[in-house]
Amino acid sequence: MAQTPKRTERVAILTGGGDAPGLNAVLRAFVRVSHHHGIEVYGSEDGFEGLVQRNRMVKLTPGSVRGILARGGSILGCSNRANPFAYPTGTESDPYEDRTQDVVERLRSHGIDILVLVGGDGTMDIGHRLSQQHKVPVVGIPKTIDNDLGATDVTFGFDTAVTTATWAIDTLHSTAEAHDRIMIVEVMGRYAGWIALHSGMAGGADIILLPERPYDIERVATKIRQRAQQGSTFSIVVVGEGAYPKGTPSTEASPVDGHLPKLQGAAATLAQHLGAQVPHEIRTTVLGHLQRGGSPSPADRILGTRFGAAAADLCAKGITQRMVSIRNEQIVDVALKEAVQNPKRVTDSEPLIATAKAIGIEFG
Ligand code: F6P
Repeated sequence: MAQTPKRTERVAILTGGGDAPGLNAVLRAFVRVSHHHGIEVYGSEDGFEGLVQRNRMVKLTPGSVRGILARGGSILGCSNRANPFAYPTGTESDPYEDRTQDVVERLRSHGIDILVLVGGDGTMDIGHRLSQQHKVPVVGIPKTIDNDLGATDVTFGFDTAVTTATWAIDTLHSTAEAHDRIMIVEVMGRYAGWIALHSGMAGGADIILLPERPYDIERVATKIRQRAQQGSTFSIVVVGEGAYPKGTPSTEASPVDGHLPKLQGAAATLAQHLGAQVPHEIRTTVLGHLQRGGSPSPADRILGTRFGAAAADLCAKGITQRMVSIRNEQIVDVALKEAVQNPKRVTDSEPLIATAKAIGIEFG
């Protein structure tokens, strides 16, 4: 006789990696819809930390997620230093150790049927490995302000980051003009130029430099000189944090023990090169974590809510090793493996690039 699959009774959820505006919208929707399905939800504090360490699992109820929709950050906390496959030991000689058995044991002792991971490519990779190596049933929810996951059209957090960066570029315009300066604005996004491209276009940047194409400093300087000849004595340059000049090594690096290196200095490098080419005063603004903080935009609240609700539905149906995703406005789900395979980068065929070039934006 065929065995009836076990009904999902209890799940755990965590917010892994760096935070992104909209995480609390996900948690709120996930808990509410799970409650509707009669599923109990536990939250792991600080990403995987709560599954590696003892006493870091908290019960989440509709009451505990009340009033959090508009809040940035995550009520569970986040960590990108708690990879259970390469967990920091605190010793120099042997800096990382495998703590996945602790995760498996914690899930077992709490009676967890499914582990729900809200995270970017790093977190999904951990989820995929946990499912492969330890048979942990996993459901993924994509998150990153960088918007660089190929398996979904968009991730929540991106819209808020672009909104903040656009506000900053708008604000810098008047002071750039008043002082006839070159303002260089460095935005996040790691090796993907989506935040740079979108905020640069929305903020009316004159030059956008993307991590995907090393820039030619001559072209940047020529554009600034041309603008000056046409009477615009200031310029706004948006540079992605992973961008670099032609002839220098790429900033892209593989993770070491699951940890990516910190990116810094794109604006400073550009300012240094440009200073030798144009007579203007140059100032740099590094937006940094401003782009990750604050209240999520309406679009991110809605996307987070849709993802959270859809993930709870998957759990109720017992469908695992899948990640929720959005394709052409429809919520779908894709294999967890697919989620970590294809990073999404700005290619030359990106339609926004053509439009930007048509209105005179220089890409170096
Ligand atoms: O992936 C999101 C992101 O904000 C990147 O854009 C940035 O390079 C990185 O995280 C910063 O990480 P941290 O908060 O660890 O400095």
